[in-house]
Amino acid sequence: MCNSKFTLIAVIVLIHVAAVLAKTKLLTGGTIIAYDEGIQLPKVIRGGALIVKDDRIDQILDIAPLNGTFPVDTEVIDCTNKIITPGFIDTHRHGWQTVFKTMGSNTTLGDYFVRYSASVAQPLFTPEDVYISQKVGIFEALNAGTTTILDHAHHTWTREHAAAGYNGSIDIISLYKNNYSNGASWMLGKQAILLRSLCHMTISLQTHTERIRKTFKQSLRCASDLIGLISVTEKPISKCLPVTTSLGHGTVYAQNPHLSTATDVRETVGNAPEDLHNAGILNTSIAVVLAHGSAISAHSAALLRATNQHISITPESEMHYGHLHPTSHLIADQGSLGIDTHFTFSTDILTQARLWLQSTRYRMYSNTVDRWQIPNSNPFSVAQAFLLATRNGGLALGRKDLGVITKNAKADLLVWDGTSPSLLGWADPIAAVILHASIGDIDHVLVDGNFVKRDKKLIIKGYDDDVSNFLDAAKRIQQKLRDTPLVPQVGKWLGGFPFGEQYQIDVQSGNGTGYGPSYI
Ligand SMILES: *[C@@H]1O[C@H](CO)[C@@H](O)[C@H](O)[C@H]1NC(C)=O
Ligand SMILES: *[C@@H]1O[C@H](CO)[C@@H](O)[C@H](O)[C@H]1NC(C)=O
Ligand SMILES: *[C@@H]1O[C@H](CO)[C@@H](O)[C@H](O)[C@H]1NC(C)=O
Ligand SMILES: *[C@@H]1O[C@H](CO)[C@@H](O)[C@H](O)[C@H]1NC(C)=O
Ligand SMILES: *[C@@H]1O[C@H](CO)[C@@H](O)[C@H](O)[C@H]1NC(C)=O
Ligand SMILES: *[C@@H]1O[C@H](CO)[C@@H](O)[C@H](O)[C@H]1NC(C)=O
Ligand SMILES: [Zn+2]
Repeated sequence: MCNSKFTLIAVIVLIHVAAVLAKTKLLTGGTIIAYDEGIQLPKVIRGGALIVKDDRIDQILDIAPLNGTFPVDTEVIDCTNKIITPGFIDTHRHGWQTVFKTMGSNTTLGDYFVRYSASVAQPLFTPEDVYISQKVGIFEALNAGTTTILDHAHHTWTREHAAAGYNGSIDIISLYKNNYSNGASWMLGKQAILLRSLCHMTISLQTHTERIRKTFKQSLRCASDLIGLISVTEKPISKCLPVTTSLGHGTVYAQNPHLSTATDVRETVGNAPEDLHNAGILNTSIAVVLAHGSAISAHSAALLRATNQHISITPESEMHYGHLHPTSHLIADQGSLGIDTHFTFSTDILTQARLWLQSTRYRMYSNTVDRWQIPNSNPFSVAQAFLLATRNGGLALGRKDLGVITKNAKADLLVWDGTSPSLLGWADPIAAVILHASIGDIDHVLVDGNFVKRDKKLIIKGYDDDVSNFLDAAKRIQQKLRDTPLVPQVGKWLGGFPFGEQYQIDVQSGNGTGYGPSYI
């Protein structure tokens, strides 16, 4: 959930856990969901093989090679009866909120803003808390097969908090970076670790165009303060671009047009694509990712197409909080998937893809059924949902080498157990993953060609210590939340709109049952 109303200070970090110098790997015998760039559709290869060199997919073979035909030091991973897919890409998430896990199961949007949002949560967190929450949140994502995250990190209340969250990401990255021992070496080195961008910005609801422009520049300067990446400060964005593009990254900017469009206060919010365009931010080679976009207008959608920028649809969040989905399904071609506040619901992109697929079918069918007609086809295929969860995420970040299995793409791979009880009998591997699998069926996760999860277990040095520190922080922060009285949701909310009485579902008969307590 992005903030509105209050000042939003966000460090946006695109985390891509990475490594170098991995031995050549051969993933052989599986069914590979590769990508055909010619026809822009998934390409299923049965009984094929992948050769991974360093952090890249070096070869995609239609037939598994025979023993003896590959170098002896190749690490062979037998993928017989497995399904190999690209890793999932999450284009909107707040890693620092991991410590809130389960505390907000019944929260509303109004509740969220006064209880868990970046606007109010600072007193709950020391920098160390941000660090461990961010770090363990990334473990959670890796475990779920997410291999690239665009972190909308608005925990940047102080320089220390900002640095801690950043360190939380970096320290994970360093776990896999082999012989690179300090931060500088990966920045300056051979991109052992790819931190796509770090962007520190200040935006407020009242902000208008000029302010956005200014803060956007400031964000690059702050990034330089933190990571020593950019030494220029007040130069125009275009001057900074070679810095980001030379690393092969785009700077990414996330905002929330939904709140504005849904509550019709866009003029004061200033975060619609039109506002970014007026600020000169949208139509550049810098990737811009707009969070939610649930109620995006036809004009805004056209602008995103014209500038090739994307939204991050976070289906579960938008249902949980009541953003609803009036129009964002109509711009799936400039869409990608994100999680948002993963402490309130599931953390995996697979669940998001499935929810979005079926809820979009529901909505599209309604168009027809509401006319008293019977739909004569299915409106949304599993292959399209699969692309949304993988390739479109890469496109949203300006990275054609992410979210696909193609030659020279990043070797960010998931190996699924095709013999799990839920998948048994599958013919279509895409349907198997999108509609039948759970993240528990993921055997291996590779990021940049290295295993981060193997045989269903995360491979993380110091994991137990991190878990113990995380649990201490979670316990302390959750107690503070319990001790904080709820703010009654009465009167008016942001933008002056009144709260309305919400009818509640009661699955029990009789009076006085209803919603009941949360068991926290
Ligand atoms: C190929 O080699 C692997 C060990 O590297 C072995 O497990 C497997 O049985 C061999 N396959 C054949 C067909 O020889
Ligand atoms: C972040 O990491 C750097 C380098 O290891 C360290 O100097 C700094 O103290 C850390 N900051 C925080 C807030 O953890
Ligand atoms: C670091 O490099 C040395 C020498 O090349 C190698 O033996 C060692 O395994 C490497 N360490 C890691 C963590 O990869
Ligand atoms: C974006 O910029 C390109 C060239 O820089 C221009 O041709 C195009 O018209 C611009 N699009 C919009 C929507 O402003
Ligand atoms: C439930 O409560 C309402 C209002 O308090 C009352 O009118 C109604 O009779 C009650 N119904 C039952 C089944 O107790
Ligand atoms: C959520 O649960 C808490 C704890 O049981 C309760 O006090 C609160 O009223 C609930 N909030 C909402 C928005 O339903
Ligand atoms: Zn958000």
